[in-house]
Order: sequence, then structure tokens, then C-alpha cells
Amino acid sequence: MADLLNGFVRSDMCGDFTAKDEGRQVTVMGFAAKTRNLGNLIFIDLRDRTGLLQIAFDQSKNAGLFDKAASVKSEYVIAVKGVVQLRTGKNVNASMKTGEVEILASEIKILSQAETPPFFIVDDISTNEALRLKYRYLDLRRPCLQNLIVLRDKITRAARGYLSENGFLDIETPFLGKSTPEGARDYLVPSRIHNGAFYALPQSPQLYKQLLMIAGFDRYYQIARCFRDEDLRANRQPEFTQIDLEMSFVEKDEDVMQVAEGLIKRIFAECKGIEFNEPFRRMTWKEAMERFGSDKPDTRFGMELKDITDLVKDCGFGVFASAAVKGSVRGITVKGGAAFTRKEIDSFADFVKDYGAKGLAYASLKEQAVSSFFKFMSEEEINSIRERMGAEQGDLMLFVADAKNKVVFDSLGALRCHIAKKQNLIPDVYDILWVTDFPLLEYSDEDGRYYAMHHPFTMPNPDDLAYVDLPEKLGEIRALAYDLVINGQEAGGGSIRIHDRDIQKKMFTLLGMSEEVIKERFGFFVDAFNYGAPPHGGLAFGLDRLVMLLGGADNIKDVIAFPKVQNASCLMTGAPDGVDAVQLEELGISVKKDG
Ligand code: AMO
Ligand code: AMP
Repeated sequence: MADLLNGFVRSDMCGDFTAKDEGRQVTVMGFAAKTRNLGNLIFIDLRDRTGLLQIAFDQSKNAGLFDKAASVKSEYVIAVKGVVQLRTGKNVNASMKTGEVEILASEIKILSQAETPPFFIVDDISTNEALRLKYRYLDLRRPCLQNLIVLRDKITRAARGYLSENGFLDIETPFLGKSTPEGARDYLVPSRIHNGAFYALPQSPQLYKQLLMIAGFDRYYQIARCFRDEDLRANRQPEFTQIDLEMSFVEKDEDVMQVAEGLIKRIFAECKGIEFNEPFRRMTWKEAMERFGSDKPDTRFGMELKDITDLVKDCGFGVFASAAVKGSVRGITVKGGAAFTRKEIDSFADFVKDYGAKGLAYASLKEQAVSSFFKFMSEEEINSIRERMGAEQGDLMLFVADAKNKVVFDSLGALRCHIAKKQNLIPDVYDILWVTDFPLLEYSDEDGRYYAMHHPFTMPNPDDLAYVDLPEKLGEIRALAYDLVINGQEAGGGSIRIHDRDIQKKMFTLLGMSEEVIKERFGFFVDAFNYGAPPHGGLAFGLDRLVMLLGGADNIKDVIAFPKVQNASCLMTGAPDGVDAVQLEELGISVKKDG
């Protein structure tokens, strides 16, 4: 076999050197990040995944070596032997981790040449994303992305360590399976052997992990890939990863929450050096909605929602009075917000339209108040609203009125975060809390029926079981479900499961499934409960989101080696792509021409 490395044996990674290494003979390998030729001295910044290291070539010491170094261009892959020497005075580079030292080279081997890359491989980059993703392997050489991928590995290892110590077994479940309803569209895989039949890629391993409890494995976990054909967002990808777990012989939501909380604490301690000594806060879903307008409240700042429905139900402003009949009127007070211009307030009104709000009423408490609705109100009404809102001179009050509470919550919940970002109100801390007591069912006006808020296997709160048979009370049934929220993002969620066959059937029926549909879609699952099912529950954390939160990434693409873009395609490989006619023929599939 050819001697690929020319007998060079790597002794160290680039990023590990300090002044303590002075005088050592070393061999390093990596990519030439930057080269500078000063005529009689050449410097190459060598990059590997641990960091950058300066290599010096001195013409006066070795002219042949110097000429070879002069031929090295950006992104050449090289191996270098040399001695570690201290940099002195102004040559010390404080902005570089290894900036106290450099390697004075004695040998170099060019392992691979490189064409000029389509963009500079540096952290601070303005190159458009499409070009970077087309050359993702070059983009991934950037230290900021390398660090996130390294962090991802660290988090995964911390999770495995903790779960293994706590008796969880790592068990794989199929990718080619039957669809599990998690509320998104499935990715389907056509079968060659069974033409016309399809596997569904798992939206999560939900059914399988429950069956593993029925199979007696007691505690399961998996770093599980999940596939959901849904619209992408800054924190959502069509394929993503969960730290997924399930445990048997649990009684209440707290039993699972405590184990999951320990996992998150371990991850923060091992990967960020942050210790949380207190239990995470618990907040009911109802409180989260009423105070923050969101089931994933960012509680790092105030600007809480206030309900003024009772104050305006008889007022002269039609928009408020009519919304108060069935829905509600709520608002937020922006401290110092009177400084916002009319144009900015209009932009807030546009912002809430995306959440279904029909308008945004405002009162800017300048010396002379400017408001879109004060003219319809009496002095007393205005004063009572100001008092309820805790608004003073210099503040801005913003209100949404709607017959649907959901619209009021969604729009104000999003608006308070939008304004807080604009006003720089959000402190740089980790804010972690559990949201509990979610409603079991959510009504869809569009479809005229209830949907499971979490999924159909979630246990109703035993205290609310009587409501199951009262159609008008269905919306009030609480679930034994919980989400962990970190800095206003849903980091994970789970529930205690139904382990009683009759309750499970009842649940399916509430969701509008006929006996036949239940049998066809979930027969194998329901049957399993006939053979002894331990009470069980579990949860899944979004691994990608955890990496984002711990690594300070704004976009989920930055924490996934090969992500998809907005339209669910991969710019590097071109997936999804057409296939050969022969392949389609085997699958018994023909594609519509205009499709
Ligand atoms: P759920 O659907 O809430 O629960 O998912 C759990 C966690 O996975 C993350 N997540 C996502 N991350 C990136 N891109 C996506 N498209 C995406 N969708 C979800 C979130 C979320 O909190 N089987 C249940 C868990 C259980 O009940 O045990 C489930 O999948 O961080
Ligand atoms: P209009 O009657 O449409 O001129 O609206 C008067 C004011 O009420 C404007 O500031 C609107 O933005 C606001 N407004 C209209 N509909 C709503 C609503 N559903 N909630 C809050 N404010 C609204």
C-alpha cells in the first residue's frame, strides 16, 4: 500500500498547544486556513477540528522547505513536523487559543491540493446560505459549525451516560413501519414486494416504545431519528432527532418529569458547566396561556398579558364589546413604549395579523395620549383599563380583541416576544420550566371535531375522567402531559400513557375513529393491552433544539451536519430527485405528467 502520510505520524491536534509545550518535537496535520508570505518568512494557520495553529517557515534555515511551503494554498491538506516555540511580544496572538506558540517547521508533506474554495472558510461570513449549503462540507469546516457538531456529540454522550446509569436500555425501533399519528404528514416509502402498499417513516417511535414497555423492558431510550412532512421553521426540520425515553411502573407525571429533569441537569453540567440546584419551575398550561399567551412561555422578561374583557364588555368601542361576548380582550403594556412611532405601531399591527388578529388597538400614553379607541370610552373606563394594565405616562398599551381566545393568546404571545427582542429586554440566561396540565383535546372549528393535543395515547387526568362522557366538557379535560420549555422554546414533551384498553378505545372514539378504523390502524397496538400492560409514561427531547439552546445557534440548520432548506430539499445532493423508470416500474408507480 502507498505510504499516504509519508511516514508522518500525528502527535497532537492543533488546538491543544500551550506555552507548556515549548521545545517539543511534534507532527500536526490539517487544512491550510490562511497563508502569509513575508518574503523570508511564511506563516500558515493550520486548522483541524480542535482549532488553529500557526506554523512558521524560515527561508534562512531551510530554503527547500520554504519553497515547498510557498506552494501551499488555502485548504491544501498538509502534514508538518517541527518544534514548538514561544511567540514573544507583539507576536503573541491573544485572539487565538494557541496564540502563545507556533511550530517552527522542519518538514512538510502536501497530502492533498485544493482548488480555490467558492467562499472563505471563516466564522464571520456573508456568503449566501444557498452557496454554503451546496458546498456543505466546506461550510462545515468553519470553526463555529464544527464546535456545534462537537457539542452535539457531547450532549448525546451525556444523555447516554445518564440514561444508562438510570437503567434505560438503548433499543432501536424500525424506520420502515406503520404510520404513528403525531399530527404531521407522513413520509411514505413505497414497497416493491407489495405494490400499492407503503411504509411510513416514523414521526416518532411512540407506539414502538409503548410496546417495548408491554414487552417488559421496563426502561427504554433511543437517540431516535424522526420524520415529519411539515413546514420548516427556524427550529424545525423534516428529519430531526429526539432523545426519546419511556419507563414502566410510573404513577404520575412527576415520576417521569423528575428523571427527565435529571437528564437536562446532567447535560447542562457536563456540556456547559452550569449547575441547576433547584427543581425547575412548574406552571400549568392555563397560567402559561393567561400570563404569557403561549404554552412555551419565555419568562425571562415581563410584559405579561392582562385580561380587560370584564372592563370593556359594555363599552362604546364595538370591536371590544362584541369580542367580549364570546371571546376576550387582552393587552400588554410596553414600558417606555410611548416612544414608538406610529409607523412602528402599524408594523406591530401587521405582525399580529399573521396570528389571525383582525387588528391591534393601541394607546400611547404620551403627554397627550394618542389612542385608536379612547375616543369611544369614558374617562372612568380609560382609567380602569390603565390601572388593570399597570400603565403609566410614557408607556404603550396594545390590545387584541377576538371571539376566539386562541387568536388573542397567539397574537399577543408572539407580539410580546417580538417587542422584547426589539427593545433588547431579554437577558442572556437559561430560563427553564415545566408546563403541565395541558388540555387533553383541542377543538378544530375547521373540521368540527376534537384532536388530541399531544397524541391519542396520553392519559387523561383521573380527576377529570367523568368529563369524558360529557360532550360540553371535553375541552376541559386535563391530560397527564408535560412540556419542558427552555427560553421560550419547546425543548421536549411527553405524557403518562393510557394503559387501560377501554380508556384507549374511548379516546380513539372521542377522536372520531370508528371501530373499524381503530382496528385497521391500531389493532396491533390495542390488542397488546390484552396481555398485561404496566402503567408507563415517557417523554422526548428535541436533540437538535437542545444543541441550539446550549450552543447559542439561531437556526436548527447550524446544528445538523446535512440539513434541508425551506422547501425540504438538500442543496448539496439535490434530494429529492427523480428516479429511473425501471425503479418506478418495480414499485408499481406511475407519476402524473403535470405533477
Ligand atoms: P413531540 O411531537 O412533542 O412528542 O416531539 C418531542 C420534541 O421533539 C422536538 N421536535 C422537533 N425538533 C425539530 N424539528 C421538528 N420538526 C420537531 N418536531 C418536534 C421538540 C419536541 O418537544 N412521541 C412524543 C413524545 C412522547 O410523548 O414521549 C413526541 O414525539 O423539541
Ligand atoms: P377600525 O374600526 O377598523 O378603524 O379599528 C379601530 C382600531 O381598532 C384600530 O386601531 C384597529 O387596529 C383596532 N382593531 C380592529 N379590530 C381589532 C381587534 N380585533 N382587536 C384589537 N384591535 C382591533
